[in-house]
Amino acid sequence: MNTDPTGASTPTTAAATDAHANAPLVFITGASSGLGQALAAHYARQGWRLALVARRLSVMQAWCEHLQLPPWQCRLYAADVAEPASIRAAAEQCLAQQGLPQVVIASAGISHGIDTGCWEDLPAMQQIWQTNNLGMAATFIPFIGPMRTRGSGSLVGVASVAGVRGLPGHAGYSASKAAVLAYCESLRGDLRGSGVKVTTISPGFIDTAMTRDNPFPMPFLMPADAFARQAAAAIARQSSYVVIPWQMGWLARLLRVLPDWLFDWALAGRGRKPRKTPGDGQDKGGPQP
Ligand SMILES: NC(=O)c1ccc[n+]([C@@H]2O[C@H](COP(=O)([O-])OP(=O)(O)OC[C@H]3O[C@@H](n4cnc5c(N)ncnc54)[C@H](OP(=O)(O)O)[C@@H]3O)[C@@H](O)[C@H]2O)c1
Repeated sequence: MNTDPTGASTPTTAAATDAHANAPLVFITGASSGLGQALAAHYARQGWRLALVARRLSVMQAWCEHLQLPPWQCRLYAADVAEPASIRAAAEQCLAQQGLPQVVIASAGISHGIDTGCWEDLPAMQQIWQTNNLGMAATFIPFIGPMRTRGSGSLVGVASVAGVRGLPGHAGYSASKAAVLAYCESLRGDLRGSGVKVTTISPGFIDTAMTRDNPFPMPFLMPADAFARQAAAAIARQSSYVVIPWQMGWLARLLRVLPDWLFDWALAGRGRKPRKTPGDGQDKGGPQP
C-alpha cells in the first residue's frame, strides 16, 4: 500500500515499480466496503495491481495493512465520486502514477428510502443520482479516451436487480439503477469496435453493509467474496450483462414481464428502507438489491 496524507499515493522504489509494472491494473470505486472491497481482494489474490477509491481512506488503509499488500500492488485514492473534480483528480493521478488500467469498476453507490410526496426527500434523491449515475460517468470518462487509443480495456458498471422495475419506497434507488442499465448499454454501443468493452453487473442480494439490516428475507443472499469471483469471471469473458447470482437473473426476467397489476400486488406491503433524515450523514444500508 502506498498513500500520502492527501489520499494520493507516493512513488515507491523504481526497482520495485519496474519489477511489477507488467501486472495488470484494476481501478475500483467503492473499495472501502462490500462489493468493491471483495473485488479488490479477489484481484489482489490474482496478482493484479490495485487502484482503490473511496471517501474513507483510513478504512482502505486498514484493509491493505490487514492483507499485508506490498507497496507495488496497491495505491489508494480518497475521492468522492459525487464530486466530478474529486474523482477526476483520482483517475488522473492513477493514470500518471500507475498507468492505464485494464479494468475500471464503478461500484461506489448509496441507497436510501424515499417518500416521493416529501420535499425533504428531494436532496436524498439528488445525492443518490449524483453518486450512482453522475459518479459512474465521471469515473469512466477519464479512461475512455486513453482506452480507445490503446484499443482495449473494460469498463464495468454495477447496476442492480432493483433497476428492472420501480420498487415502491425506493424511487430514488430504483430509478438510479434503471439509469445505470441504460447508461452502460449506451456506452457499450458508443464503444463498439473500439476494443473497449462494457460489462453491466446486476447484483441480487449480496451480504454487505448495504443489505445487512434488511428487515425481510433476501432470496439467494450471496457472500461478497463469491459475488466477486463470479463478477471477475464475467469481466474476464467480456460479458455485456450479467445478473449475480444467476437465480436472481430469472427473478429479474420474471419481474420484467409481470403485468403492472400483478407487480403492484406482489410488492404491496413489502419492507422499505428508512428514509434519510435531515442531517443524517449515513449513506449505508438498504433493503433493495
Ligand atoms: N449489496 C447488494 O446486495 C447490492 C445489490 C445490488 C446492487 N448493489 C450495488 O453495489 C454497489 C456496492 O454496494 P455495496 O453493497 O458494496 O455497498 P456498501 O458496502 O455500502 O459500499 C458502498 C461503497 O461505495 C462507496 N461510496 C459511497 N458513496 C461514495 C461517494 N460519494 N464517493 C466515493 N465512494 C462512495 C463507499 O465508500 P465510502 O463511504 O468510504 O466513500 C463504499 O465503499 C452499489 O452501487 C450498490 O448499489 C449492491
